[in-house]
Amino acid sequence: MRSLISITDLSVEELQSLLDTASQIISDPQRFSHICEGKKLATLFFEPSTRTRLSFEAAMYELGGQVIGFSSANSSSASKGESVADTAKVISCYADIIAMRHPLEGAPLVAAENASIPVINAGDGGHNHPTQTLADLLTIWREKGRLSDLTVGFCGDLKYGRTVHSLIAALSRYSGIKVVLISPHELRAPDYVKKDILDAKAIPYEETTDLETALPNLDILYMTRVQRERFSDSEEYERLKDSYILTAEKLEKGRSDLSVLHPLPRVNEISVAVDKDPRACYFKQVLNGKYMRMALIMMLLEQKDKTQLRTPDYVTGKRHCSNPRCITTVEQELEQAFFLADPEKEIYRCKYCEAEAE
Ligand code: CP
Repeated sequence: MRSLISITDLSVEELQSLLDTASQIISDPQRFSHICEGKKLATLFFEPSTRTRLSFEAAMYELGGQVIGFSSANSSSASKGESVADTAKVISCYADIIAMRHPLEGAPLVAAENASIPVINAGDGGHNHPTQTLADLLTIWREKGRLSDLTVGFCGDLKYGRTVHSLIAALSRYSGIKVVLISPHELRAPDYVKKDILDAKAIPYEETTDLETALPNLDILYMTRVQRERFSDSEEYERLKDSYILTAEKLEKGRSDLSVLHPLPRVNEISVAVDKDPRACYFKQVLNGKYMRMALIMMLLEQKDKTQLRTPDYVTGKRHCSNPRCITTVEQELEQAFFLADPEKEIYRCKYCEAEAE
């Protein structure tokens, strides 16, 4: 069964095909308005969302399909203790495709392993958010005309910012990409992003705490919100939440052809005054997300019988995932499994959340 759990489940050719389909939808939406007649999308949102859930719903309606689902864990039988695996088996009886958001990392992968219909990861904890990446890629492609030869600055909460992790994984497959990671020390990008993606693909990158010094060299500035819901210590959140605020004055240091992206929601890391600047692309990004989700739904329904691209060898036993946000540490009947991320250093990572195994 073909699902989208990580952005690396899609080849570069498939990403290009999605970009091309989205462009065709933008030019002639009427041509696509009956493609999903008779099909149902289930939106299973165990965590709040405005853009992702509603853009999935708008996407399916605009393809002529229908939508069922829930928008919080409290209104589903998860609140009675039903597992993700059972939920996926049940929804497979009602719908043709699932979009799932869950606070636990790896939950959509568990759903994909148990569903008999395609599953789309609509955000799992602080881990991945591949369909936001599709919105980001279409925005960059439309603004810049290319996905290669770009210097991209990621600013804010790079530890818990799942959209950052997915976009870095996607861009690492294009040539001439340089990355600047701008964050407080406490919110630096996780090791699996720096070692397994950037180092492994020899992508030049630097880490800094200083946005204003980095700004003049960037083609893309990807701002992010400090993710309050992922902090166990509210004092630490209060201390870090205003680490970066992009104002119109600071933006003067950016190039005239800079594009400012943000997955939204914004709290106060971009001043409202910046919205008027032609370099602000974050509301275009929202609309692009709907077109890419339309293209993705069509692709997965067409290819549902194809196998996944990403099928590494997994090992079980001996090792242990201790990430408290991993689905396997909460749903304890799930078997933990690991893949060899670094053969030289013998580093194994959890199949579900990619945390380093103990
Ligand atoms: N960008 C994004 O995921 O927004 P929502 O949380 O509103 O879906």
